[in-house]
Parts: sequence; C-alpha cells; structure tokens
Amino acid sequence: MSDQPATVREYDLFAPEVTADLNGFLHRVRAESPLARLPQLDAYMLTRYADVKAALRDRRMDSSNMARVLQRLTPAEQEELAPVRRSIEMWMGHTVPADHVRFQQLLKRYFTPAMVDRLRPRVREFTHELLDAVATKGEMDVVSDLAYPLPANVIAELLGMPVSDREQLQAWSRDILPVFGNGDVAQLRHAQRSMLEMHDYLRLIAAERRKAPREDVLSTFMAAEAEGLVSEDEAVANCVLLLFAGHETTANLIANGLVLLFDNPGSLARLRADPDVMPQAVEEMLRCDGPAGVIGRVATEPVEVAGHTLPTGTYLYLALLAANRDPEVFANPDAFDITREQNRHFSFGMGTYYCLGAALARMETDECLRILLDRCPDLRPAYRTPDWQPTPPFGHRLGSLPVIF
Ligand code: HEM
Repeated sequence: MSDQPATVREYDLFAPEVTADLNGFLHRVRAESPLARLPQLDAYMLTRYADVKAALRDRRMDSSNMARVLQRLTPAEQEELAPVRRSIEMWMGHTVPADHVRFQQLLKRYFTPAMVDRLRPRVREFTHELLDAVATKGEMDVVSDLAYPLPANVIAELLGMPVSDREQLQAWSRDILPVFGNGDVAQLRHAQRSMLEMHDYLRLIAAERRKAPREDVLSTFMAAEAEGLVSEDEAVANCVLLLFAGHETTANLIANGLVLLFDNPGSLARLRADPDVMPQAVEEMLRCDGPAGVIGRVATEPVEVAGHTLPTGTYLYLALLAANRDPEVFANPDAFDITREQNRHFSFGMGTYYCLGAALARMETDECLRILLDRCPDLRPAYRTPDWQPTPPFGHRLGSLPVIF
C-alpha cells in the first residue's frame, strides 16, 4: 500500500444520492477520499472513525461558531441580524475557550445524575399524557404527537417554565431552527424575533428565581450570577442553547429509533419480550442514526488530518454518522444489532465539548419507547417509506411518522 495520502475529492451537498441513500453516500466518500472537500461550505469533511476521533481530541480544533452561517448574508442583513449573532456568540461551545470552561463548569452543577433521576418520573408522566391524548384514535403522527412535544416539555421543566407556556416553547423552537440550517432572510428575521421574545420571557423567570430559587436551570444560573460567575445576558442566551441542543436532537432520536425498530421486526419483538434490553437498543439507535450527523470545527493552528496539512482557520466537518458506520471499527456496520457488545459511537461527541445532556437524552428515549411499546402492543407503521427530509449538511430528519395501534 502506498504511504501517499489519498487525493482530496470534492462532493456536492445537494447531490440526489445524499437524499436517496445518505449512508451509502458516506460509505463512498470514506472509501474514496478520507479528507473530502465541500466547496459549497468552503470546508472539509472527515468520515473515518480514526480521523474523527483524532479531531475530537485535538485541542487545536475549536468548536466552530454557528454564527458563521450568517456570513453568507449581505452586510446590511448581517447588521440587521446582529442580535442573533451576539446571542450565539455567548453560547457555550461558540465562545472563546475560557468562557466555554466557565459555562461548562456552571452547567455541570445542574446536569448531574440526580437531575436525570429527578426528571425520570416527569418524563413518564409526559409520555403517558401525550399518549392519552391520542389513545382513542388508534393512530398518531409520532413526530408531532410524541417525539417533538416530549423533549420540549422536558426542557420547559428544566428551564422552570409553567405548564401553560409549553406550547409557546415548541413554537419558539420551530421558529429559531432556520438559524442553524439554510434559512432565508425572512426566516432568519422571524427567528430573531422569536429568540428575543424568548430572552425577554426568560428574564422574567430569572427575576423570580433570584428571589425564590427552585430546582431548575435558571435558578442555577441566578445563583452563579450572585457569585459574579455569569451575567443575565449570558444566562438567557445559554437557555436558548439548551433548547436548541436538547429539543430537536432528542425528538429525532425517538422518531429515528422507532423507524429502526419497524425496519427490524426481530429487534422490536426482542424489546417487547425483554424491555430491559432498551438501554443497549438506544445506543444502537444512536450509532446507526444519531441526530447530530455532522459537527463543525475550526483549526486554530495548522493541523495534520488524514495525511494532509490544513492551515489555520480551516473549517472542518466531522461526519459522526459516517464514523459510526466505519467497517474498520464496527463489524457489519449497517446492521441494526441491539445486542452489539462494542458500541463506542460518537453520537454525543467526545472530549472537550462532549454532550452535557447525553444522560438526559438517553433516559428520555428509553422511557418514551418503553412506554410506547408497552401501551401499544399492535403498534405498526402507516407509511410506505419514511418521510425523510434532508437537513444539510449530510443529515436528515423525519417530517412525519404516521403509525396505527
Ligand atoms: C439525542 C439527543 C442529543 C444528541 C444526539 C446530542 C449531541 C451532541 C453533540 C454531538 C455534542 C457535541 C458538539 C461538538 O462537539 O461540537 C453536544 C453538545 C452539547 N449538548 Fe447535546 N445532544 C443531545 C441532547 C442534548 C440534551 C437533551 C441537552 C440538554 C438539554 C444537550 C445539551 C448539550 C450541550 C449544552 C452541549 C455543549 C457541550 C459543550 O460545549 O461543552 N444535548 N450534543
């Protein structure tokens, strides 16, 4: 075998193959060009497990600031959307490294195993409530009736929002999402309005929690504010980050996970017979179809990746989805195997920016799917092919998931 690094090829984000067969496409890229060029994003992408792992561990690779997506706008539009940019720049993982450590230490006070245990009975209650609402119909859209509202309710609980405002949180989440995709200017303006509305709303809760703290994340932030560790602006901005980080992601894991079970009736039957296999099944759902398909990095120094040296400032996407199906690491990588022993996937990242909500997301998905299978013994799909919608770059989500039970 030659020691020469493979040629760097270019790939089209919007090639029909990406939508038609995302995993097949990523297998091809991994085999052809371990370092791939994405001209539409002026960036590169890594797909091999070993390369993604090295990049996740590399301290010279910072998490890339999402505000970068605003750079494609005209100067006047960028000026108009400056409040969104300023807010994103306060998010942990999008700040300077010193602020990242500060926010991380602070949020770790809240994101503890005890918090997950405390929320578990609430997750069960929410799941039952949502299923009660559709029980007599014998049919539902899992995305809009269960997977989407459940994690929104959990985040509302975590932020300390009253039950009556839960629907509002889902609406804000929907409005804000285009900031992170390919939203046009009208969508971005709308997103900005909702983000600022949510900030104002959170400031009201924050004022209450200063006087009378509870067991929610805003109370943690306000205690830290009193210690001079965080400002109110930073606290409310990072609450929006939690909504963005924990809502759609968990919703997609629940819905994608169910499609995997429908596609693999043997696994579904096994889980019905032995629900205690659920934690392992959730890991396999994360590996096969983890909701964070790619994550961004920027090189703060020249770095060597996949045999090539990239200059400072290079943007790099780490295709977690591709690394999780690398045949060098996972035997039979395209098989959904809920008994897989070795399952060190990267769906929650690794190292410095490892997901703070990983245990919470695992618990939500586990409880939700257990209750769903238990309450709906005849659950079956009511679609011919799943309603996959592309979420560039190289991701997908279900627009709907009709089932009958
Ligand atoms: C299935 C659901 C989830 C998936 C797949 C997921 C995935 C990820 C990934 C891949 C990262 C690392 C990003 C990077 O390295 O650039 C991350 C970070 C993060 N996640 Fe999650 N996440 C999920 C749920 C949640 C939930 C429920 C919360 C909280 C409510 C949350 C909060 C965070 C936060 C705060 C970070 C930033 C950590 C840091 O920068 O130190 N996530 N998540």
